[in-house]
Amino acid sequence: MMRAWVIRPERLGDPEHAMQLEQIEVPEPGPGEVLVRVMAAGVNYNAVWASMGLPVSIFRYTGYDFHIAGSDASGIVERVGPGVTRWEPGDEVVIHCNQSCGECAECNGLDPMACTQQKIWAYESNWGSFAEYCKVQAQQLLPKPPQLTWEAAASYGLTYFTAYRMLIDQAGIKAGDNVLVWGAGGGLGTFAVQLCALVGANAIAVVSSDDKVELVGELGAAAIIDRREFALSDPDTGERIFDEVKRFGKAVRAATGGVDPDVVFEHVGAATFYTSVFVCKPFGTIVICGATSGFNLDFDVRYLWMRQKRIIGSHFANAYQCHRANQLIIEGKIKPVLSRVFPFDECPAPHQLMKENQHVGKMVVLVGAEAEGQGAST
Ligand SMILES: NC(=O)c1ccc[n+]([C@@H]2O[C@H](COP(=O)([O-])OP(=O)(O)OC[C@H]3O[C@@H](n4cnc5c(N)ncnc54)[C@H](OP(=O)(O)O)[C@@H]3O)[C@@H](O)[C@H]2O)c1
Repeated sequence: MMRAWVIRPERLGDPEHAMQLEQIEVPEPGPGEVLVRVMAAGVNYNAVWASMGLPVSIFRYTGYDFHIAGSDASGIVERVGPGVTRWEPGDEVVIHCNQSCGECAECNGLDPMACTQQKIWAYESNWGSFAEYCKVQAQQLLPKPPQLTWEAAASYGLTYFTAYRMLIDQAGIKAGDNVLVWGAGGGLGTFAVQLCALVGANAIAVVSSDDKVELVGELGAAAIIDRREFALSDPDTGERIFDEVKRFGKAVRAATGGVDPDVVFEHVGAATFYTSVFVCKPFGTIVICGATSGFNLDFDVRYLWMRQKRIIGSHFANAYQCHRANQLIIEGKIKPVLSRVFPFDECPAPHQLMKENQHVGKMVVLVGAEAEGQGAST
């Protein structure tokens, strides 16, 4: 048996209520699967959605009557299932969260993200990292960067690999581009800012607190906009305040030296999408992977067609992109942004903070690691 933080269908709601500590049988790795002893687990927004049962209950997908969330982990391979040859017990790993069938044409020639059986591990499937052991497909394993502690290694995968695919592959950012980054002090945003700096693009970072202003400056933002200075919509009716949208656009231009952004990095959704489509430059790209503030988006399509802008949806990353991005961490070119570490017994607390937007960067829960600072070998 193992200790695990478990969500059940009958108690969906705020994470501090939905996630409860239970004893669960340790799963057996099947063919192509690996059992990993979890040392630390990263906190992500998908566990907030899973706890709340929003926008749909995850139990519709998993086929289980309990759910162990946690789509980021660092740990040690405990056992491998039949057919696994590249990994063995004792290997130190981090885990990417894309699962696919491994057999179809998409998995073998196109992009596993297009596989009809593609799932985000520990959201659309079970056996995540808020437990002493987790079960994953062997292709999800990546080498743990040796210089990182367990908690730093567990902190970056899901959001960093998502930001990597969005900016490097989908939007194709290049040196000199101006990139408007919403939520720049959050999980995705802190990596978007670093990726821009790495390729020589200018990140125009949007944040809403003084500590995030300081953080994104340190990460290499070319300019910072405090969104508290703009009322883009009426807080009661949600109606656009177009003069404020235009004033925001002027602030972006002031930050870039007079031009509109080539790329807008979107994941906020309802509260920002109208503005994103409006401020993006002609022939520019809005790349979107989420909708924290609501998924029914509205925008004035005239600004899209007359100015020939593109909207690109993006979802996590394939294994190749995860390996490329992980290599940049191993080389020290991109750094984890770890703000707080919690003991295993307090796992719901950081999820509640995340739901209330009371956090900065990434938060991690220690699982097998007994204290912070362990696990770095070089
Ligand atoms: N599809 C995928 O593969 C994928 C992967 C990762 C994440 N996501 C989704 O992307 C979203 C963000 O994830 P995350 O890990 O970056 O979350 P996060 O750490 O909570 O960061 C989100 C940021 O959004 C900003 N924000 C919140 N409400 C806002 C509003 N009304 N207007 C403008 N900005 C607002 C906040 O920044 P300020 O308050 O400082 O402005 C916050 O820091 C989540 O919905 C998540 O589920 C999707």
